[in-house]
Amino acid sequence: MRIAVLTSGGDAPGMNAAVRGVVRCAGYYDMEVFGIERGYKGLLDNQMALLSKRAVSGIIQRGGTMLMTARCPEFEEYKYRRLAAENLANHGIEGLVVIGGDGSFRGMKELYEEFGIRCVGIPGTIDNDLAYTDFTLGFDTAVNTVVNSINNLRDTMSSHERVVVVQVMGRHSGDIALYSGIAGGAEVILVPEHPIKYEDIAKRLTHNKRVGKRSAIIVLAEGAAPVDEVIKEIKKRTDLSVRSTVLGYIQRGGAPSQADRVLASRFAERAVSLLRDGKGGRVVGVRDNKIIDDDIKTALAMPHKVDEDLYQLANILSV
Ligand code: ADP
Ligand code: F6P
Repeated sequence: MRIAVLTSGGDAPGMNAAVRGVVRCAGYYDMEVFGIERGYKGLLDNQMALLSKRAVSGIIQRGGTMLMTARCPEFEEYKYRRLAAENLANHGIEGLVVIGGDGSFRGMKELYEEFGIRCVGIPGTIDNDLAYTDFTLGFDTAVNTVVNSINNLRDTMSSHERVVVVQVMGRHSGDIALYSGIAGGAEVILVPEHPIKYEDIAKRLTHNKRVGKRSAIIVLAEGAAPVDEVIKEIKKRTDLSVRSTVLGYIQRGGAPSQADRVLASRFAERAVSLLRDGKGGRVVGVRDNKIIDDDIKTALAMPHKVDEDLYQLANILSV
């Protein structure tokens, strides 16, 4: 049996570990794997080649993706997806592993529903915005990267008795902000899923200063509000010294954590097994630390929600 693997959309630490896992698990079952470069773009341009087990040596510890990734707006059009299906057939490829986020999964769903291409998705995005799985690949590493930055910021903010607004990624999901905020001991966490109450924030910061807190960390998910607005609103209501730091793409790179490497390997094993069993239109995930797979349509229909218990806990811990 011959299958293919591609990485698509925003990259995430652990994508390489997943590619390696797919190649090694498929090889174990005597299946061949084609690596497609630059996501759906490479699929349209026939940028693909056989990957040997040795071709994926030395990548488990690397961030980014050896297959490269790209955005491919054409893929939203039927005629290009038909070309993709033809290219796969011309190469004798019977199954496709797509490593990416919800956009990549939407493309994969179309390919499966329109042309019967057996596709399996591995969730690779730092945003953790796919509701059917507890965690996506790259999230743990990204959170650790943010926590390290918060630690550094805490040092200098405490010395100067300042407040800092740290902007982290997450256009539609507050998970990076929430988890890194809790792990970094943040005083305030702002997520797109909850409205911002500047009056409450100002009261909390003033109270914290009065009871002896020398600094304050505000973790802001990029989708919650612009950094400048947050600073302006705090300055309007307090006399605190406020600074900001935008972490940006730093969060998308770096060596994957142990958790992401193991998760990637477990996801890859399930994805290969599904294709080997002749299944398609599935996405793999993790729930309660067990690897699961779900129908892609059902999975994509689940709305992302922030963990309300964690959000409440963050508020309790921060005062
Ligand atoms: P991510 O997979 O990280 O969410 P994007 O949303 O940018 O990243 O999607 C990656 C690619 O998936 C897009 O460039 C496009 O090729 C494909 N894609 C996204 N949405 C759709 C869709 N509705 N139909 C077909 N393909 C899509
Ligand atoms: O990978 C997801 C993400 O990190 C978002 O949180 C962020 O807004 C976006 O990618 C930015 O990526 P790009 O500039 O590649 O579109």
